[in-house]
Amino acid sequence: MNFVSKYYPVIICFSLTIFTTIQAQEAKQHPLEAKIDSILSILTLEEKVAMCHAQSKFSTKGVERLGIPEIWMSDGPHGVRAEISWDDWAYAGWTNDSITAFPALTCLASTFNPKLAGEFGFSLGEEARYRKKDVLLGPGVNIYRTPMNGRNFEYMGEDPFLASTMVVPYIKGVQKNGVAACVKHYALNNQEHKRDLINVEVSDRALHEIYLPAFKAAVQKANVWSIMGAYNKFRGEYTTHHELLTKKILKGDWKFDGVVISDWSSAHDTKKAALNGLDIEMGTGTDGLGMTTANHYNQYYLASPFLKALKNGEISESVVNDKVRRILRLMYRTNMSSNRPLGRANNKEHHDVARKVATEGIVLLKNDNNFFPIKDDKNITIAVIGENATRSMTTGGGSSELKPKFEISPLQGLKERYKNATIIHSIGYASGASIYDQVMPSPYDADSLKIEAIKVAKKADIVLFVGGLSKSHLQDCEGDDRKQYGLPFGQEELIDEIKKANKNIGFVLITGNAVDMPWLSKVDGVIQTWYLGSMAGHAIADIISGDVNPSGKLPFSFPKKLEDNGAHSFGASSYPGINLTQEYKEDILVGYRWHDTKKIKPVYAFGYGMSYTDFNIKNVAIDNKKYAKNGTITVSCDVTNTGTIDGAEVVQVYVGKSKSNVKRAVKELKGFSKVFLKSGEIQTVSITINVDELAFYDESISDWNIEEGDYEIYVGNASNNISKKMKITVK
Ligand code: BGC
Repeated sequence: MNFVSKYYPVIICFSLTIFTTIQAQEAKQHPLEAKIDSILSILTLEEKVAMCHAQSKFSTKGVERLGIPEIWMSDGPHGVRAEISWDDWAYAGWTNDSITAFPALTCLASTFNPKLAGEFGFSLGEEARYRKKDVLLGPGVNIYRTPMNGRNFEYMGEDPFLASTMVVPYIKGVQKNGVAACVKHYALNNQEHKRDLINVEVSDRALHEIYLPAFKAAVQKANVWSIMGAYNKFRGEYTTHHELLTKKILKGDWKFDGVVISDWSSAHDTKKAALNGLDIEMGTGTDGLGMTTANHYNQYYLASPFLKALKNGEISESVVNDKVRRILRLMYRTNMSSNRPLGRANNKEHHDVARKVATEGIVLLKNDNNFFPIKDDKNITIAVIGENATRSMTTGGGSSELKPKFEISPLQGLKERYKNATIIHSIGYASGASIYDQVMPSPYDADSLKIEAIKVAKKADIVLFVGGLSKSHLQDCEGDDRKQYGLPFGQEELIDEIKKANKNIGFVLITGNAVDMPWLSKVDGVIQTWYLGSMAGHAIADIISGDVNPSGKLPFSFPKKLEDNGAHSFGASSYPGINLTQEYKEDILVGYRWHDTKKIKPVYAFGYGMSYTDFNIKNVAIDNKKYAKNGTITVSCDVTNTGTIDGAEVVQVYVGKSKSNVKRAVKELKGFSKVFLKSGEIQTVSITINVDELAFYDESISDWNIEEGDYEIYVGNASNNISKKMKITVK
């Protein structure tokens, strides 16, 4: 419970009495650090150690005699999770813990709108604060390496620049509420399959250029207050207490001053945890992984074994002091802060933000014969077919699952929006329920569902097929990866059959991942809608009706077949690994970098997304031709909305270096700007890029290096739709 308000004066009083003259001087310069030092000096070794590990599933101990509060944590990235029991994973059964479910982070990334990411983070932080959480376990910024990763929906896509740009305002927004964001999973947790055991081998270059930038931005640009370790190994060592990743890079090079929290049972060794930078150990079972027994917390690696090593001098007390210093720093930023806002939940503003992110993130992929938007006409009958039209997409998925106060299903959203048209519905196909890591058989007979769906399709003018993945085990869910690239539960065959009954089909694709699309030629329209949270159905209806003009852009590529993806092209040794080791053989060529460089066309490219209006990008210019290494490049262009309705376009700037001494992707995203334009409106857009963003990670000097010479600047509205290419020189 929160003791701080009760005992806060006691802490201050203790602090004041033990100041020495030096501390008093320091206090003037660093008052917070001095306060922390003074608290450290009166804590016993036992009290310090107790602060470094869990006391329950989601909390750590405070120090009652001093009024130092407990720390309360909660998942997760898209909303505050329902209360979990003290000692096991069962839900606690509270009736006052429902919240706003915000869209999944793939959707947020698709908005390409950093301002909206700030609003998302702020609203979510308010809900976390209202629920009395000190640490929110999110956002996740692991890079989308393969469409099979069951957890991609929780992350921000395949591009490090996009993920870095979106994560910074999100974190700042959360932390404005006196709630620590906990960016996760550091690092290289790019698949769920065998995540506890898999060893990742990846070059220093790919590590620094692809997999670490979003974490670095979280630390250096957003000043994130905590970071979560990952389950997997890197170069043979567990990442949660990794000498290179945690101790050297994170706490050394990046000067991270916050708290490293383990993933739930990702710590494996007392000495490594103590010395390589883990500060708080969570979730460890008595058998080392996952299984729980009541009151086993004293057996944690950072509990009794740590205390023993400190007492017998094997580990110096300065080690625990550093951890507790960081923990207290986090507390002064959160639950010991004197001006912490109160927070709020389930309010209209949060629902509006959730709806805005959802509508801005939906991506229009295909729109033959202007299939979308669909008019609300009394002469039209729309058949909504597919399990995802009614399935809850806030439950399932693993630790990010939510208990929203309400969730508008696509069917409900469409019914509420379409007052004149007739909406009919059929489930079409059905998945089985999934309980943790098991999938139960579907309770329905597939053939009867199909026959019924075809009947319904025949009665309609238009079919909206609402399908995709089910966000259950092996279908976009934590704990394991997908097993097939294609759509599950017979959806592909079902579309074939529906096509025979009705030619006008639009696909509302609800996934957090790319899927195989052999059915693409059979449908006229496709919208990629992600997992959208509480306001899902309203947002989908906003786009389908044309109330909102789509402006989302894909944050990852859709390969034609799995082998077209870089990671998969090298076979099992690259994904999912052989004998629990995998080598990232595609190296820096992740996602569109691979498709572009190897000239393998995807079905849909990174950065792609259509609109109901048309834009053109003209008068593309750069402010100079030659730049110094410490200079900035300003790219400008005029964007015109040439269509008849208002809309938004995302101008994207990519940079390449075709003549280089090192391997390079053809081009990499280095800047973007989303511009909202009324019909007929024209706006000049300027995008500034620091020349040092063009550096590559030079393994020979273990540092960033800016090559001199010519670079190509590409400006367009998708990685595969470039309006203008220009040359610059860096001297
Ligand atoms: C997940 C984390 C999550 C934690 C607590 C772990 O299994 O990997 O992302 O925050 O559980 O629920």
